[in-house]
Formats: sequence, C-alpha cells, structure tokens
Amino acid sequence: MSLAAAVSAETEHSAGFTLEPSSLSPRLLELRFEKPVVDAFLQAVTHWPVQALEYKSMLRFRVGKILDDLCGNQLQPLLVEKLVDRDTGALLITPEGLDQVEQAEEMVKFTTAVAHLFGRSNFDAMSGQYYARFVVQNEDNSDSYLRQAHRVMELHNDGTYVEQDTDYVLMLKIDEQNMEGGNSLLLHLDDWEELEKFSTDTLAHREMRWAAPPSKNAAKDVYHPVFDLDRSGRPIMSYIDQFVQPKDDIEGNWLTDLSESLEGSRSILSVPVPTGSFLLINNHFWLHGRDKFTANPGLRRELMRQRGYFTRAKTLRKPNQ
Ligand SMILES: [Fe+2]
Repeated sequence: MSLAAAVSAETEHSAGFTLEPSSLSPRLLELRFEKPVVDAFLQAVTHWPVQALEYKSMLRFRVGKILDDLCGNQLQPLLVEKLVDRDTGALLITPEGLDQVEQAEEMVKFTTAVAHLFGRSNFDAMSGQYYARFVVQNEDNSDSYLRQAHRVMELHNDGTYVEQDTDYVLMLKIDEQNMEGGNSLLLHLDDWEELEKFSTDTLAHREMRWAAPPSKNAAKDVYHPVFDLDRSGRPIMSYIDQFVQPKDDIEGNWLTDLSESLEGSRSILSVPVPTGSFLLINNHFWLHGRDKFTANPGLRRELMRQRGYFTRAKTLRKPNQ
C-alpha cells in the first residue's frame, strides 16, 4: 500500500467508517459504520420519530448532516463520488449494531440520513411516504413479483413507469426469518456481455410505453426508450420486463431477447444482504433483481426501499436536460 493510500485508509477509519471493495466484485464497495458512530447518531436523533421525518422533509437533510458531522464530514463527499463513478456506483452498507427487527425505526432513520447526503428520496406511491416498507411471505396474491417468493425477480431498473428521476435505489433488509436463498442480484451494465449488441440496436432508443399494475398506484402511462446516454455518451438503461408494453411483435420479441440475454449473463452478482444492511446503487448503470427462495411456511422477509434523485451530482443527465 502506498503512503497516500495508507493515510487515506487511516483517515477513513478515523472517520467512523471503513470502505473496501467486496470480494464479489471490485465494483461493489462495502461501507461499514462503526458502532460508536451508529450509537451517537441514534442518540442525536432520538427526539425525532420517523413520523417527524415523514411530516417534515427538511429534517431528512438534517439527520444526514448529523451523521456526516459524526463522520468528520468525510461521508458526504465519499457517497457523492462513489455513486456517480461509472466504475463502482454500488455500495453494501452496514451500520454495526443495527441488526434487529425491533430497531426498524432506527434503520429507517439511518438510511434516510445516508440517502439525503447526496439526494432526495421520491414520494413512493405504493406507501404514500418517501420510503416503503413491505413484507415478503410464503403465500402472496399480489399483482407483481415484488412480494412473491419462490421465483426470481428478473433484473430491472426502478422508476421505469414514473415521471420522477430515479437516480438511486436504496434497499434495506429489516427482517429475515426462515429464509434460504433470496440473495439480491446485481448486474453492472459494463459487465453485461451483450451491452453493445442491444444498446446499438435500432430499437434501443425507440420510445416505448410503460404501465404498472394497480398496486403501484401509478395512474398514467409514461413513454421512454430502454436505452439513453450519459454525459460521456455511455449507455444507461431504464427497463423492467413486467411493465414495458410493446406495441407489436417486433418490440415484443426484441424485449424478450434482451431479457433472456440479461438473465443469462455470467456477470450477475449474487449478494447476501444481512439484516440491518442495505444496498445503495446507481439506478442508471446497475440492474437489480432477486433470486428465488426455498419454500418454508415460516418464511418472512421485511424490506424497505427508497428511490430518488441526486442533488449533488448531475453527471448522468445529458447536457440538454
Ligand atoms: Fe426494483
């Protein structure tokens, strides 16, 4: 390790967190907050219940500042940099000691603080809040694969059927009982073997219709192509198999080929997310999904998500947007 790297590592350590590449991929970074920082944060925000953060948007930014101050103001620049860096753009974050379902409210506060250092979480129509908690159980009769066990949720981007910008996705594991399998699946676009083939196809930039089922509470269809370009001209995606509505056989078969290519990629990462940990990804060049679970009558998993837009970096928009 060079002197600069050693100093940097020491600095990051003294900031109350550590950062290192995951053994699964150098693109996925593991950010671990030390227990004293987590405890100090929870103590500092104890007088604000989650309801206060729901009612007063400004407090979401204040809890972010409190966490950043406790980290020597080194957290905010790190998050901003890593989330837009095309070579990484994904973090698995673990606040030490925050790993029991009874601490669910504290988990929501902590994730809110992290998210509001680089962005602002959008209104989530499914919950009517800026975040959504939901449970996956053995039996489910919902109208999408989000809450269904025993089957793969295919790789996709979030926010495909809403008009809000969805630059990031944050996925927290609140609880897990009797779970076998069900890892998070991640694929970085630049690791997908057939990115070039699909992103340069004549259909890549054709506007398509996107419509969600009733549970999503999204009243209006939106129109956009599957592929777009970032500021450097590299392809980014906005795609989900369940909600795209191809207008004819040409689109339908091209989309099916694309889906099969994604699902067959050898570069998909299978990421176990422990209770209390959360994934934070750039939604433009990372696709996410979920592996199937093994059936078990006592199966229960509770998750929380936040999706939103970047406030501190605009590198993904085209210059004319
Ligand atoms: Fe998703």
